[in-house]
Amino acid sequence: MCGIFGYINYLVERDRQFIIDTLLNGLSRLEYRGYDSAGMAVDGDKKNEVQAFKEVGKVAKLRELIAESKPDMTKSFESHAGISHTRWATHGTPTRQNCHPHRSDATWEFAVVHNGIITNYKELKALLESKGFRFETETDTECIAKLAKYLYDQHPDIEFTVLAKAVIKELEGAFGLLLKLSLPARVPPLVIGVRTSKKMKVDFVDVEFSEEGALPAEQASQNAAIKKSSASLLAPPDKSLLHRSQSRAFLSDDGIPQPAEFFLSSDPSAIVEHTKKVLYLEDDDIAHIHEGQLNIHRLTKNDGTSNVRTIQTIELELQEIMKGKFDHFMQKEIFEQPESIVNTMRGRLDTVNKKVTLGGLRQYISTIRRCRRLIFIACGTSYHSCMAVRGVFEELTEIPIAVELASDFLDRQAPVFRDDTCVFVSQSGETADSLMALRYCLERGALTVGVVNVVGSSISLLTHCGVHINAGPEIGVASTKAYTSQFVAMVMFALSLSEDRASKHQRREEIMEGLGKISEQFREILKLNDSIKDMCAKFFKDQKSLLLLGRGAQFPTALEGALKIKEISYLHCEAVMSGELKHGVLALVDENLPIIMILTRDNLFTKSLNAYQQVIARGGRPIVICNPDDPEFSAAQTEKIAVPKTVDCLQGLLNVIPLQLVSYWLAVGEGLNVDFPRNLAKSVTVE
Ligand code: UD1
Ligand code: M6R
Repeated sequence: MCGIFGYINYLVERDRQFIIDTLLNGLSRLEYRGYDSAGMAVDGDKKNEVQAFKEVGKVAKLRELIAESKPDMTKSFESHAGISHTRWATHGTPTRQNCHPHRSDATWEFAVVHNGIITNYKELKALLESKGFRFETETDTECIAKLAKYLYDQHPDIEFTVLAKAVIKELEGAFGLLLKLSLPARVPPLVIGVRTSKKMKVDFVDVEFSEEGALPAEQASQNAAIKKSSASLLAPPDKSLLHRSQSRAFLSDDGIPQPAEFFLSSDPSAIVEHTKKVLYLEDDDIAHIHEGQLNIHRLTKNDGTSNVRTIQTIELELQEIMKGKFDHFMQKEIFEQPESIVNTMRGRLDTVNKKVTLGGLRQYISTIRRCRRLIFIACGTSYHSCMAVRGVFEELTEIPIAVELASDFLDRQAPVFRDDTCVFVSQSGETADSLMALRYCLERGALTVGVVNVVGSSISLLTHCGVHINAGPEIGVASTKAYTSQFVAMVMFALSLSEDRASKHQRREEIMEGLGKISEQFREILKLNDSIKDMCAKFFKDQKSLLLLGRGAQFPTALEGALKIKEISYLHCEAVMSGELKHGVLALVDENLPIIMILTRDNLFTKSLNAYQQVIARGGRPIVICNPDDPEFSAAQTEKIAVPKTVDCLQGLLNVIPLQLVSYWLAVGEGLNVDFPRNLAKSVTVE
């Protein structure tokens, strides 16, 4: 998905080499999000000149292109603003032309990089064409730069922030963007990293709200002037006036701006190597950086939301986002799971006193207990984790549970009521379908709960309450540790909800005891790594298709395993509910079709064995995932993956790990790009 990175130095002298390297490194940190082309705009040799570089393919190719163009790398800038972008094509194919940044005109008066979508770009384009603008690309983004230029030409004395607000007011859709020297955000988040040599005076930036009726005379007349001359579609903001308050954080004692560097990105992982001091923009914030000062403006008057944005210290360490001793991020993340699930439970599960405390839900838990329905809404792997915990929620809470794919839920415009609780589960917290479903439920007055990994993400910010799964950054496109952490976080959610039920006391204790042992059991399973690698080479190499069979709580495990295998190894893999085998799929089974069956012991084991017998009777030779030393599978010729036994409702946590390893080794065996599978992106921020 698109990524944005900007770097601004003010009174900190940097040469072009440094600036370009900083931008390129920032883009490399965003590579994991998925992209097909990359570009940047930096200042040229002469005043007001811009140099832009754009290339299809990897950031490394952009680096080569820049080297070939031989710009004067020694030229130094005391103050400079550079913007860069990785693009994931939505409007128009991946070509140099369609690559960001986009420009207002041949002189690059306005340059823009953008993440998200402008839904009304066709109307804006038609209008701007009628005003004489010639569009050069197929993108929705280009209209932003041209619109800025159009409004600016009408009012050359306009304040930059007033102009930025006027532009944003015309844009519909979900977007984060950097317009030269300014960055407004709506939906996809933008993070600003700040580096100063001296300690900042305060650790927050004031938010400047627009205020009706309090317009300085000069600006009021400016506004009126824009209003008069703009076409109705381009009506400028009528109440968007900025106050001249200074952001105190960046001023010296005598009120003079201090040397400062600003790093602007769609993702903190591109910033941590430069600074730990960051500030997250909220929906509709406009950050304006000018002469070493950062000001935050809003289009609206104060609506009771916070009037400061805190400068936080992020705890994300660079090594956390590096691969360490592993060949791929996905492999690292699979092997991190014994620690990541402990982090999910840390400070929340007390196995000694058998108590669960989810700080983020504390105030809402009694309301949730009284809701008439719990609707879980998610996509992909996150949807599978919801499916996996449906049974334990039903059992412990006795509240009706629905599990929905966000896109389908929206397609149906499913009924939602004020007494529903809607739970949004998402690793990134930015998935467009989930985010739209969240807005849909908010509009209908339901209570919304997030189960999210990325702190500060849109879903985390927009939900009433929630749980951060604390799994740490997940970089591989294939989600692994987020799945197990979501699973554990949701089981803890179900445990919290059922705390007041005496009849569930024993069962709750059993589950908490099980959770306490899971990490050690993960370690046991990961020891199977080498044998699973060999198994993949022996049984699945050059196969066309693979069946994964599971029943009850293990059907979601099969679904998740099949998604992993398809996603990174490109092998067709289908998850089938074992009970459904005889209703059609059995026709596929013969001695050649590779099959994995999940046959760990639970209350459905006898029924699951029926399916096993049906497969064997057709000459099938399934590989079984079973508990160690299960006499049913003692025959020497049965291929087994033995996983430890746990409480039935937690067994899926253990069973999924061999399937993650199968998908990993299948992809590695095919020489595929495990972390960046074709056609896929980590954060799917388009519908
Ligand atoms: C919080 C702190 C944690 C600290 C702990 C100490 C954060 C992010 N977490 O963790 O660093 O160690 O207190 O008691 O500051 N939320 C949503 N939607 C979501 C996810 C979370 O609204 O999708 C809200 C929660 O309701 C809560 C806040 O975000 O108000 C933090 O949630 P979470 O990190 O899960 O809370 P704690 O575990 O209490
Ligand atoms: O960030 P989210 O959890 O909302 O993402 C949802 C899906 O796009 C995601 O789980 C996707 O299916 C993964 N790539 C699967 O590995």
